[in-house]
Amino acid sequence: MKKVLEGLDEQSIPDGLMGFSTHDDCAIYPLPDGSKLIQTVDFFTPIVDDPFEFGRIAASNSLSDIYAMGGKPLFALNIACFPSDELPLEVLTEILNGGISIAKEAGIPILGGHTVKDKEPKYGLVVSGIVEDGKALKNSTAKPGDVLILTKPIGTGIISTAIKRDKAPSDMIQTAIEIMAQLNLRASTSMEGISISACTDVTGFGLLGHLSEMCKNSNVSATLEFNSVPFIEGVFELAQNGIIPGGTKKNLNFVQDDIDFSDILIDYQKLMLADAQTSGGLLISVPLAHSQELIAKLKDNHALAYSIIGQVYNPSDKLIYVN
Ligand code: CO
Ligand code: CO
Repeated sequence: MKKVLEGLDEQSIPDGLMGFSTHDDCAIYPLPDGSKLIQTVDFFTPIVDDPFEFGRIAASNSLSDIYAMGGKPLFALNIACFPSDELPLEVLTEILNGGISIAKEAGIPILGGHTVKDKEPKYGLVVSGIVEDGKALKNSTAKPGDVLILTKPIGTGIISTAIKRDKAPSDMIQTAIEIMAQLNLRASTSMEGISISACTDVTGFGLLGHLSEMCKNSNVSATLEFNSVPFIEGVFELAQNGIIPGGTKKNLNFVQDDIDFSDILIDYQKLMLADAQTSGGLLISVPLAHSQELIAKLKDNHALAYSIIGQVYNPSDKLIYVN
């Protein structure tokens, strides 16, 4: 992807607008009143069999970047691909209804969209949102002295692979669906009024990938405590049995040189930390002094996790030290 972006023709982008260059996932456009319009798009192929649940997961994932920036979504548009010659149109209706159910939870309307015929179904949203002047959170402003908090347990990539190989029990599938479909709204609301240093959402590059981006962009290093990282129940056993997605292995390869792993960690545990997530939680870097307040609010708002998983330090040889 980076190669593709590097090959693009140069555009002259006025000051104050943010796009690809910062590697944040949202575009930012300043409005005359000082607030900022933020816009993001995401769509992908089904990861679960149930079309309604797929729609919920894809919609929740699409909204995630807005919440990671501390913004509020305003409205969305559907973007879909569908094999209308091979599958009944009711399936598409179900997918779109899953999206509507999540949009309702987010308190926004879906105002339109576009579908094209394609061999494999794909679905997601284009989301427009707003963030108050000076309140946009970035992944590039983590500070030494911060602690790192993760708001959803890890392991949806490993479980998705287990589903494909028929190795996931139905209660585990249901748990993973509920985790992926949950909006990062609760976590985002919890950050309101607390001085947060930096925030990002954990998605395809996995916890290690997104944390190393945060460290690199912020010019800091971090520690990560393996035993403090929340994992979905059953993920340990799956990983131990070699059920690891290709993307997760690539993630680990990609970041390995920037990470110092403690000798006690076994290879499958490293892979668990690199697991490619779909609609993962927020990774929040917050000054130690404000961390208990944030954790209390995450608890009150029923976030799926609120564990302190590591700490931020001055830049060192490696970006991340895993204990
Ligand atoms: Co994204
Ligand atoms: Co993101």
